[in-house]
Amino acid sequence: MLLKVENAKAYYKLEKVSVKAVDGVSFEIFEDEVVGVVGESGSGKTTLSNLVSMNILKPLTLVEGKILLKINGEFKEISSMSREEVKKKLWGKEVTIVPQSAMNALMPTIRMAKYVEHLAHSHDLAEEKLLAKAEKRFEEVGLDPLWLKRYPFELSGGMKQRAVIAIATILNPKLLIVDEPTSALDVVNQRVFLKVLMQLKRMGIVRSIIFITHDIATVRQIADRMIVMYAGKIVEISSMEEILRKPLHPYTRGLLNSVLTPEPEIRKRGISVIPGAPPNLISPPHGCRFHPRCPHVMDICKEKDPPLEEVEEGRRVACFLYSEERR
Ligand SMILES: Nc1ncnc2c1ncn2[C@@H]1O[C@H](COP(=O)(O)OP(=O)(O)OP(=O)(O)O)[C@@H](O)[C@H]1O
Ligand SMILES: [Mg+2]
Repeated sequence: MLLKVENAKAYYKLEKVSVKAVDGVSFEIFEDEVVGVVGESGSGKTTLSNLVSMNILKPLTLVEGKILLKINGEFKEISSMSREEVKKKLWGKEVTIVPQSAMNALMPTIRMAKYVEHLAHSHDLAEEKLLAKAEKRFEEVGLDPLWLKRYPFELSGGMKQRAVIAIATILNPKLLIVDEPTSALDVVNQRVFLKVLMQLKRMGIVRSIIFITHDIATVRQIADRMIVMYAGKIVEISSMEEILRKPLHPYTRGLLNSVLTPEPEIRKRGISVIPGAPPNLISPPHGCRFHPRCPHVMDICKEKDPPLEEVEEGRRVACFLYSEERR
């Protein structure tokens, strides 16, 4: 195991209210795996990624729970580290996050190499050595090392995204988190990018990957397991194979049904869209947060919050349809 998240709650604490963006999630990431995190817009995916990488800036606050990361063979509670410690000891080496729309956030007037120099400074490393590493990594992701001397606007979208991933992985982070990395790419570049990710993992440059997306059709091509989020909670965790074969949570079913896929198995079930919209996270519905939209809603769902329980080995669902409690 590489990472363990225990009952983490992270709220955006605003002046009068709190947005319960991640509200009591528990899961683990094993070594040498790719985990997809999926869910509709606003379900808390980006907040979760910031939490896991301890990138917690006001108004975001970790109000409860623990995050443990294996560092040098031992689990360390990273959720109690100071921001300074996180920057020095974690980022780049243990865990790296490529934020949503990172490639569009590159400063047009700053050459790619400058980012490598920044990285060298923040980790007290020799610039030249790191630049040499960057050149090698550029080649590994299929980019000419000369591109390091170029400005972001000179690179195409697909190249920019590969440049971002090359720089993000220079220090061989054990856990790589990518947030919607393919959303801005066309299908061809998406495929190239997925290949690059898998190659980084195969070469041992990164150990495990958390791939955040609302696009199941993309993530299913590379993920071993899938975490499904709804309104700040995890509703289902499963191996990719099982979840595609037989989604259990009504939300997962709806989500998968609404995805147009070449897989006859899934297509057979037809395309359906879940009626309604996700709740606001300032005052989410009582009980199961999905109950107002759920086609299988029962009385208990309106009163109690279903716990995420193991229903088969390696498979957890938060739904009273599968829980002992409703009996
Ligand atoms: N800085 C902030 N202040 C207040 N609320 C925020 C802030 N950032 C996010 N939120 C809220 O937290 C909830 C979760 O947002 P988050 O960005 O984690 O969702 P997401 O699943 O990544 O969505 P998307 O698919 O659109 O990227 C949403 O209700 C969002 O409005
Ligand atoms: Mg997001």
